[in-house]
Amino acid sequence: MNETVLDVSDLEAGYEPGVPIVRGASITVNKGEIVVVLGPNGAGKSSLIKAIAGLVPISRGKVLLDGKDITAAPAHTMVRLGLAFVPQTENVFPRMSVEDNLKVACGILERRQAPARIEEMYAAFPDLLRQRRTPAGNLSGGQRQMLAVARALIVHPKVLVLDEPSAGLSPKFVSMVFEMLSDIRKSGVTILLVEQNAKAALAIGDRAYVLVEGKERHEGAASTLWDDPVIAELYLGQRPLRKDSARHTETGGAA
Ligand SMILES: Nc1ncnc2c1ncn2[C@@H]1O[C@H](COP(=O)(O)OP(=O)(O)O)[C@@H](O)[C@H]1O
Ligand SMILES: [Mg+2]
Repeated sequence: MNETVLDVSDLEAGYEPGVPIVRGASITVNKGEIVVVLGPNGAGKSSLIKAIAGLVPISRGKVLLDGKDITAAPAHTMVRLGLAFVPQTENVFPRMSVEDNLKVACGILERRQAPARIEEMYAAFPDLLRQRRTPAGNLSGGQRQMLAVARALIVHPKVLVLDEPSAGLSPKFVSMVFEMLSDIRKSGVTILLVEQNAKAALAIGDRAYVLVEGKERHEGAASTLWDDPVIAELYLGQRPLRKDSARHTETGGAA
């Protein structure tokens, strides 16, 4: 049986009272899965995961982590609760060295555990070891994302939540980031991932949701979602939209 780690039900959230951006979204993430959230620009993907992480006010619905209600828990308590959020930007301290970034991230560990845990991160991410004295702001885009992910993983989160880790990276670093996430999943970490890069995300994902106007419209195995021509045309930018396919979806027909 699947063990649900993150259970988000009927979530409504937004930046101003009465103006919901996330409109009744429900998603689940099972232990050991990579779940991908796709969708057009402005669909509310970032808002959804920020609301889950306590960064956008929630007006309705629930967020359960390992069965515990964490709905609207303050963002600074999320790491302790087991949810590590890696925002799209500003996810490292640019003027601090790689090593100091990792040290700061150890905050909730017992002090004597920190050095060994930092060494474990260096073993998993040798690039970071080589650059341990480098200010994070001087890293390449790909290495900076690696550092952001290492900072999140260092406290053994129950779920790692990432907002477009491949955004703005050159193709070489995009594949590096996806390989890294795939390896992290193999090590047993549960991942919720928002991505624009649908093809690469679905290639490493187990299941995916397509979010449209703040609500999930489609859910499925990552492989079948990519193969569904209606989904591909409408949301993934894979092929030009044909006139008849929109009608097709409205009547509920399968491709
Ligand atoms: N800080 C904010 N304050 C007010 N509105 C916002 C803020 N951030 C995003 N929005 C609005 O929320 C909607 C969804 O944005 P977002 O969650 O960033 O979508 P996505 O990540 O899917 O592109 C957009 O209309 C955007 O203008
Ligand atoms: Mg976004």
